[in-house]
Amino acid sequence: MCGIFGYFGHQQALPILVEGLRRLEYRGYDSTGVAVDNGNSIQTYKTVGRVADLKAVLPDEVQGTLGIAHTRWATHGGVTEVNTHPHASHNGAIHLVHNGIIENFQQLRRALASRGIECVSETDSEVLVQMMAFELEKGATPLESVQATLRRLRGTWGLCILFRDHDMMICARNGSPLIIGQGEGETFVSSDPHPLTAHTQRVVYLEDGDIAVIHPESFTITSTKGQEIEPSITVLENAWGEAELGDAPHYMYKEIYEQPDALRQCIAGRVDREMGTGRLGGMGLDHSTLVQAPHVRLLGCGTAAYAAEIGQTLIEKMGRIPAVSHISSEFRNNDTVINPKAIYLAVSQSGETADTISAIKEIKLKGGKVFGVVNVVGSTIARLCGQGVYIHSGPEQSVASTKAFTNMVAALAIFSTQLGRTRHLSKEDGRDLIHHLQQAPHLMETYFEDVGPISEAVDLLCEASSVLFLGRGLSATVAKEGALKLMELAYIPCLAYPAGEMKHGPIALLEEGSPVVIIAPNDHLKEKTLSALHEVKARGAKVILIHEKGDSIASEGDVSIAVPSIHPWLTPLLTVVPLQLMAYETALRLGRDVDRPRNLAKSVTVE
Ligand code: M6R
Repeated sequence: MCGIFGYFGHQQALPILVEGLRRLEYRGYDSTGVAVDNGNSIQTYKTVGRVADLKAVLPDEVQGTLGIAHTRWATHGGVTEVNTHPHASHNGAIHLVHNGIIENFQQLRRALASRGIECVSETDSEVLVQMMAFELEKGATPLESVQATLRRLRGTWGLCILFRDHDMMICARNGSPLIIGQGEGETFVSSDPHPLTAHTQRVVYLEDGDIAVIHPESFTITSTKGQEIEPSITVLENAWGEAELGDAPHYMYKEIYEQPDALRQCIAGRVDREMGTGRLGGMGLDHSTLVQAPHVRLLGCGTAAYAAEIGQTLIEKMGRIPAVSHISSEFRNNDTVINPKAIYLAVSQSGETADTISAIKEIKLKGGKVFGVVNVVGSTIARLCGQGVYIHSGPEQSVASTKAFTNMVAALAIFSTQLGRTRHLSKEDGRDLIHHLQQAPHLMETYFEDVGPISEAVDLLCEASSVLFLGRGLSATVAKEGALKLMELAYIPCLAYPAGEMKHGPIALLEEGSPVVIIAPNDHLKEKTLSALHEVKARGAKVILIHEKGDSIASEGDVSIAVPSIHPWLTPLLTVVPLQLMAYETALRLGRDVDRPRNLAKSVTVE
């Protein structure tokens, strides 16, 4: 969603800001803008569309070593130039970019109107800049104007603000991430670690309630009430610098094919093959917590929720304790009962998903302890949870999540083994699972040597008005993930169902030639899945079958795609890969924007 980049230093700001915006593009946005302060005035340039469109409207040179930039994903008000950030105060004295949502903005807007100050945009963000200007006119300093304004807000914000005639930038955070990067005589601000790595690895993550006053050589952080806060420096991981496309045609393609190496990163050093168990040191789980936990609850959204659902099954299979996965937004709103002795796992690639953050806060408020299963190091969820497991996928830039999914599943499999070994899972069974998990990266590579008739599957999918995905057990969840991928990338309506439920409703959709994707690895449920396959074929539908290599059921599909065999509890790691490729290839064939599908954002930072 929205992205912020700010710069104050000794170089010309504009090229640095534009490059910052380019590196934020993957988050998803619909319009973009910059403001540069040259010491006398602040110049603003905005456009609806991409950063490339912004470049086209920029003059060749804009003087100024201080500036802010924004990519907007519309929430309040349409996708128009006037709604695009930066927003300026009525007198041009202040320019601001904002991520988040101001819940009481209507009330604040009315209060401004009663003082004769009318907002020109439809956004919630503009009220902030007008309120600050009002405070400034009353004699407040820039910092005081920000403090006074923030005290009156309800909602979330990540803010970067320029004050004409004041050599400084002010930033503030509440619920929307902001990171300050300190270089040599220059300071950077970003909503995301990725654009910072080009400049510095020394960063400070602002906490909720922090306000930072930025200068080239230094910055100070205070709370809303004005108390000074000692910044805690973090060194960014190198991996964030390796997120360039290189020779790959798209980020999604690159990330699908990175899965074997990403999996190796996730597993390395976290399994004890001899003892047949997992070792997730970052979770800090002691033996008694694992033994006494009455149940496990997992949370996530989208692909992360499907990884959580697979985690639920693995935990029950190995740990033999109840586990339930929840969609984060539903969990928070359903006033769910929290048992402080239970284990709570929050699963997220970005670590910034607002619904998951809200659910975590709800659990913590009621005394529960939440562990993060997160990709982005230092992200809000990682810091909110304090303990957990980094899935180590490396940067994932395509909006469609791929390598994060398989690494989430692997991390949850390791956790399940660790939990299981403190309870009922035998050493032999633990060893067997760990052995297969360690084989998974190589098996993925084997699959990539011959991905099977993906393009024949795409021939069927391209023509479809809707697609049904079926599977049983773990594969029912893989079906959901496959349906989500195809739907979000190709814009084809997709429905995923447990194969056993098909005859209770969705079978009504089938007609001659309807494509149905069936995931049927060689597990104890395969025979039952085959019954559904026959029912589908009897109605003239075309079956795209994902099966294990060498299995005789290959002949049952109209298009059959084989993946290497693996332990039945780990099949999602392999069966999901052809579904990712099918979604990618179908989207390409239909001329979709694969890495940035319409309306979607990579980090969904609003509820
Ligand atoms: O960053 P998160 O894993 O918390 O994101 C959750 C979902 O927004 C995300 O998985 C989304 O569904 C993807 N577009 C799926 O490909």
